[in-house]
Formats: sequence, C-alpha cells, structure tokens
Amino acid sequence: MKKFQIAAIPGDGIGKEVVPAAIDILEAVSDLHGGLSFEFTDFPYSCEYYLEHGVMMPDDGVERLKDFDSIFLGAVGNIKLVPDHVSLWGLLIKLRREFEQVINIRPAKIIRGIKSPLVNPKDFDLIVVRENSEGEYSEVGGRIFRGEDEISIQNNIFSRKGTERAMRYAFDLASKRKKHVTSATKSNGIVHTMPFWDEVFEDVAKEYPDIQTDSQHIDALAAFFVTRPEKFDVIVGSNLFGDILTDIGAAIMGSVGIAPAANINVNGKYPSMFEPVHGSAPDIIGKGIANPIGQIWTAKMMLDHMGEEEIGTVLLDVVESVTNDGIITPDIGGKYTTQEVTAEIINRLKAKA
Ligand code: NAI
Ligand code: MG
Repeated sequence: MKKFQIAAIPGDGIGKEVVPAAIDILEAVSDLHGGLSFEFTDFPYSCEYYLEHGVMMPDDGVERLKDFDSIFLGAVGNIKLVPDHVSLWGLLIKLRREFEQVINIRPAKIIRGIKSPLVNPKDFDLIVVRENSEGEYSEVGGRIFRGEDEISIQNNIFSRKGTERAMRYAFDLASKRKKHVTSATKSNGIVHTMPFWDEVFEDVAKEYPDIQTDSQHIDALAAFFVTRPEKFDVIVGSNLFGDILTDIGAAIMGSVGIAPAANINVNGKYPSMFEPVHGSAPDIIGKGIANPIGQIWTAKMMLDHMGEEEIGTVLLDVVESVTNDGIITPDIGGKYTTQEVTAEIINRLKAKA
C-alpha cells in the first residue's frame, strides 16, 4: 500500500471550491486503485489568514510543509483584502523559492468537447518546461537618477547549473513522450545569455541521442503555438519565454479554467507544488460554477509525479469523456456546476472499478 501525505492549501476565492472537488476525485481514484491512498492535511494560508495574523503564512510555515510528499494548492489573491504583491510573494512565490521548485511544467492539449479558439485545430499535445528560478526574473539591477536622465537596469541570470537542469528535465520528459525537444531561444537579439543557452542545449542534447531537437526564436515560436501547435512535443524555455508560451498554451486549449501546472523540486529535498494556472476568479466566487478541470488535471500531474502515471491517464480519459458529453461549466459554454461536473467524473471513475 502506497500512502501519500499531501498538504492542501485551497487559498482564496474559487481555490476553496475547486480544491475540495479535486480532493473528492483523488479519494475516488484511491478507491479505484487498491494500492494507493492519500492523507490530506488542510492549511488555511490565504488572504483571510493574513487579515487575522498579519502574514500569509506563519514563520514556521515552510517547516510545517517541508515533509509532505506534495503540496496541492488552489489559488492565491484577493485584492479587496490584501495587495497582490503581498499575497503572492508571501505565499506562492515564497514556497516556490524555499522549496527550490526550479522547474515549472505546463501541458496544453486538445480536450475533447472543449472548443479551442483556433479554427480547425489539429490534435496538439505539448508540454512547456520553464526554468523557474533565474533567467529574466532576477532581482539584480536597479535604477539611477530621476526624470529625463533616469536609467534602469535589469540583469538576466543564466547559470550553467540552472540551464542544464531545465534542459535535462525536458529531455527526460521527452523520452517518455514523442521524443522531441524544442528550445526557445533568441540568440539573434540577446547576444550573451542566449548563445550560452544554445550551447548548453547542444551539449545536453548530446547526452540524449534518441531525442530529436530543434531550436526556434521565441517570436516565431510564439506564432507557431497558434498556427501549428500539433508540431510540438516538449518545449524548454527560460523563465520569461516559458511564462509567455504557457499562457498561449492555456489560451489555445479554450479556457484558463482547465489549464494545470506543476512546480517541481528536482533534488528531492522538498515537496513539489501542484497548482492550476488560473487565479482566484473573484468575479465568480460563491456561484458554484468554477471549472474544476484545471485543479483536477493538476491532480493528475501530481499523480504522474508520484509515479502513478497509469491511473493519471485513466483520470484524464474520464475527464475527457465527461467534457465530450457536454457536461461542462459556463466558462466553456456549458450549464453545469462545479459539483455536477465533479460528481459525474466520480461516477464514471467508479464505473471503471
Ligand atoms: P483569474 O485566473 O483568477 O481569472 C481570470 C478570468 O478567468 C476570470 O473571468 C475568471 O472568472 C475566469 N476563470 C479563472 N479560473 C476559472 C475557473 N476555474 N472556472 C471558470 N472561470 C475561471 O485571474 P485574475 O482575475 O487576473 O486574478 C484574480 C486573482 O487571482 C488576483 O488576486 C491574482 O493575483 C490572483 N492570481 C493567482 C494565481 C495563482 O494563485 N497562481 C494566478 C493568477 C492570478
Ligand atoms: Mg504567466
């Protein structure tokens, strides 16, 4: 019997609606699979917690979370209570940094029954591996003078270790998929870090002779995500390029409400954190219509990470059978509630037992 300890942080807004739904699904998954069980521990860290305690998470929050197998997070942010930079940096970004979650992965694929905004989309299935700890999102730089003479400088940080780590992750992932890695570069315009990025990519590629590669400039690549996403398998990008590509990935699937993500700790020292791409969706809180699929697909990524890929695949198949039958929430053109979609997925999972 494999038992996984999971820290659940629903957070704010619809996080409190979709995390319980996805936990019900995971319980159903464990019933389906005799050898697997989960123990969930809830943590109330959120903007409401901030109002009461003056912090998003207690000082020993990291200590309390560090021994869990995974962190399962909903969404963070409620600008009516706490400014976004305080809530995001006090919880989400803090956890990503403290737990050395140096890789962010986001898949995008056609989900049956969900309409892509692309006209006649082919059956794409890609995954972006984003370097999550350095690159363009560094704190090195500054501003000098004010007014007409003002100068601002922001340095990009690309370490060999960090770059290799992201690329190896991409190649390992590709070896379990369609065996192709595309590198997002811009070495024609960014003349120090991007040629370095290209060199590291070539070096790492030599370690994986079975994997095909290509390298594309980020501007063209972004366009290809729209015009021919079916040509891609795994794409590896820097922090900024990965960020931009993953938003396009979510957009071409049809709704931010279905897009999943994982922040991966690769050294095994700390838990990885699984969270959907969407935020707390203040405009639909309490209406019972939040799309639970982003959070449920995120749960599937957590299963994959735990080595339970087979059951993860079954789960996503069941989700697609439900969407394909039109049992979907209003954001993707349906009339069903969070509860109804979740219940239908659970029923169909049970039917598989
Ligand atoms: P958002 O993703 O919360 O909402 C954008 C739009 O998508 C809204 O119209 C919302 O109703 C819709 N939407 C999002 N998820 C949905 C779902 N599951 N089902 C149906 N519709 C869904 O982004 P927004 O409005 O920019 O941010 C709201 C708050 O969330 C802010 O405080 C922001 O900082 C925070 N945020 C947090 C993130 C995180 O925790 N990772 C990511 C993005 C935003
Ligand atoms: Mg983004």
